[in-house]
Amino acid sequence: MSILTAMKKNLMIPEKYKQLTRKELECRVKEVKNKFGSKLFIPGHHYQKDEVIQFADATGDSLKLAQLAAKNKEADYIVFCGVHFMAETADILTSDAQKVILPDMRAGCSMADMADEQQTDIAWEKLTEIFGETILPLTYINSTAAIKSFVGENGGAIVTSSNAHTMLKWAFKKKERILFLPDQHLGRNTAVDLGIDLDEMAVWNPITNKLEYDGDVSKIKIILWKGHCSVHMGFTVQNVMDTRSQFPDRKIIVHPECRHEVVKLADMAGSTSYIIKTIENSEPGSSWAIGTEMNLVNRIIQNHPDKNIVSLNPQMCSCMTMNRIDLPHLVWSLDTLEDNSTHNLIKVDAEIAENAKLALERMLVNS
Ligand code: 13P
Ligand code: SF4
Repeated sequence: MSILTAMKKNLMIPEKYKQLTRKELECRVKEVKNKFGSKLFIPGHHYQKDEVIQFADATGDSLKLAQLAAKNKEADYIVFCGVHFMAETADILTSDAQKVILPDMRAGCSMADMADEQQTDIAWEKLTEIFGETILPLTYINSTAAIKSFVGENGGAIVTSSNAHTMLKWAFKKKERILFLPDQHLGRNTAVDLGIDLDEMAVWNPITNKLEYDGDVSKIKIILWKGHCSVHMGFTVQNVMDTRSQFPDRKIIVHPECRHEVVKLADMAGSTSYIIKTIENSEPGSSWAIGTEMNLVNRIIQNHPDKNIVSLNPQMCSCMTMNRIDLPHLVWSLDTLEDNSTHNLIKVDAEIAENAKLALERMLVNS
């Protein structure tokens, strides 16, 4: 949601929250948490700022946070410290009585915005004309509820970076080819790991509505939506080469949202949880260059003073939309629980939620 839309809808934070000191804000969060106890659940994604993550009841990657939302029957309020698609997922997986709140409605995800309903309908129609009934859609969890719903309706499922291999194998048991939305890089990296050749992969361009592929289309096994994460696109082959030449002992670990050329040259690739666990289990004194979002990299650095850890790209910054959630916004949303005004409520339309839930459940039973 843009700043302008948020202003029009009166969803901008009142000025008074910006005047409070950090100590005042922290005291207020503690007060509300104590008052609500287990009736309030605050999940926090690994990319959230420290000032927010310190108050999370649980931290995790997208898969873990979806699993926790599905399990939580106790909380009346789920104040989601993450981005919009994560809060939508939590709303779909919880009961109608449970309220999901996003502290700042502008905390979107540029990748999720790269596939909309209209574009997907056009793509599906054109691809079905070419390939008939042979395609199953899969969508990365980083997508809108409407895209999840489209996927659910057409027999497909949701994928996260933690279970992409499992879900892609699951999908290939059902159909000959897969349409993978909206992150071409996670799709390509996972497919390569499963032994699919790059020349068996096509790219669907949602701007030109064209299939980008040279050759015999009957060879195509996976159609990658032309979307990407602007944060992970910031890691380049040059970054890998610089690290290799200047620090040959440094191991390189990256997120699979990075482009294939980078993942191929790295030592390891995996989800945020995989990266955290790998560093935790590594030897004291070991040396690492990490290719993922900067709030997480800085936290890993702080948690492992005995290891030599840097970002793979020395110029890398945090995910701007994850950073929208800060202490003032957290306090503002917690205050609304007390007066029951609960704005910033995330409520997915019931019709959309029904099929989106089908797609999410197909993932959850397989993860
Ligand atoms: P994971 O936490 O699933 O690795 O996803 C990373 C991400 O980009 C979330 O927006
Ligand atoms: Fe979206 Fe990338 Fe930010 Fe994750 S890191 S929320 S994929 S823009």
